[in-house]
Amino acid sequence: MPKLNENYLNLKESYLFSEIAHRTADYVKNNPEKGAQIIRLGIGDVTRPLGKVVLDALHEGVDAMSASDTFKGYGPEQGYEATRNAISAYYKKNGVDVDTDAIFISDGAKSDTGNITDLFGSGNVILIPDPVYPVYVDSNIMRGNTITYISGNADNHFLPMPDKNQHADIIYICSPNNPTGACYNKEQLKEWVDYALANEAIILFDSAYEAFISDPELPRSIFAIEGAKKCAIEFCSLSKTAGFTGTRCGYTVVPKELTFTASTGAVMSLNSMWNRRQCTKFNGTSYIVQKGAEVVFSEEGIKECQENIQYYKNNAKVIADTLTRLGIRFFGGINSPYIWFECPDGMDSWACFDFLLTKIQVVGTPGAGFGENGKNFFRLTSFGNYEKTVEAMERFEKLFG
Ligand code: MLT
Repeated sequence: MPKLNENYLNLKESYLFSEIAHRTADYVKNNPEKGAQIIRLGIGDVTRPLGKVVLDALHEGVDAMSASDTFKGYGPEQGYEATRNAISAYYKKNGVDVDTDAIFISDGAKSDTGNITDLFGSGNVILIPDPVYPVYVDSNIMRGNTITYISGNADNHFLPMPDKNQHADIIYICSPNNPTGACYNKEQLKEWVDYALANEAIILFDSAYEAFISDPELPRSIFAIEGAKKCAIEFCSLSKTAGFTGTRCGYTVVPKELTFTASTGAVMSLNSMWNRRQCTKFNGTSYIVQKGAEVVFSEEGIKECQENIQYYKNNAKVIADTLTRLGIRFFGGINSPYIWFECPDGMDSWACFDFLLTKIQVVGTPGAGFGENGKNFFRLTSFGNYEKTVEAMERFEKLFG
């Protein structure tokens, strides 16, 4: 009999978004007449189609596969040079220097933020904010790691800061934050970088929502902060930036400056380790997808993606305006696609989920799914269709007004 990874016994029975889909499907099964009325503002999945610039590039990729002189088989595990160069140039445009060979293309930030645990041994002090994107927590539970939670709450605007009396080895940060929509400013991120350097710790920085930052003062990358290349890995994704949730593409930046001394005295480079890991376990993102990804970072591509982002941000405003009118306290929704509101009447977040589903057929995400501190909060996404978002908010006005 194989010895199983019994750490899986410590996970919740199902992944948050699978649980939501399951509960919604159950409701529709028992109330078929309500099925058509459901408005889904739960999982942060985009609804706008891919733009023309991206589609043309994807078609070019497909055409290349049709002729023997342009056909592509296995590609480089790190990603095609042209796509990596395009990402490096995008960083440069945002005032940040990132070398092409620090960039690794993948099928998305979810995989990479989960897979990165391969690089670390056991016994680390791992700081994870609560509430947080569940992948960081679950992937550490799967490895049997102990997690030290740092509290995000209304008092610190869901932006926990380092505690100088607490040692850390690994620190997870997501900004703009999923689920709260909160976004660290430069001074706050500098504090985290200084803390990581002082502790010889590493920051795992998830910037999947950077394209939603409209305030030019807010950092879109941890590498906008001095010293970060010595202590941080950044994960980013085209899912929300360019509508690639179904197309799948992301990238991870592992600077060459990021080195630590092993117990043997050997100097270990995280860039080399990640490269080794990817070469062993990953055969690269498809050429066709990388053709599409490359043009996301062109001037036209950025413009096209920003049009969709503005569409979603307008939805966020519709939600924010409604909650403001209703006197419901909320966070996020400005430099982020997520709105994180306090459940009315002190409701527990799963009770709020059931209440909204059964009373007005609106599906959202219960804050408890993101951690203990989310138990009285609820997340709505702005990734829905505009008319449906307006309708959902009309139903909110009737229910809570
Ligand atoms: C979310 O709703 O939090 C995200 O869509 C999940 C993800 O990006 O994997």
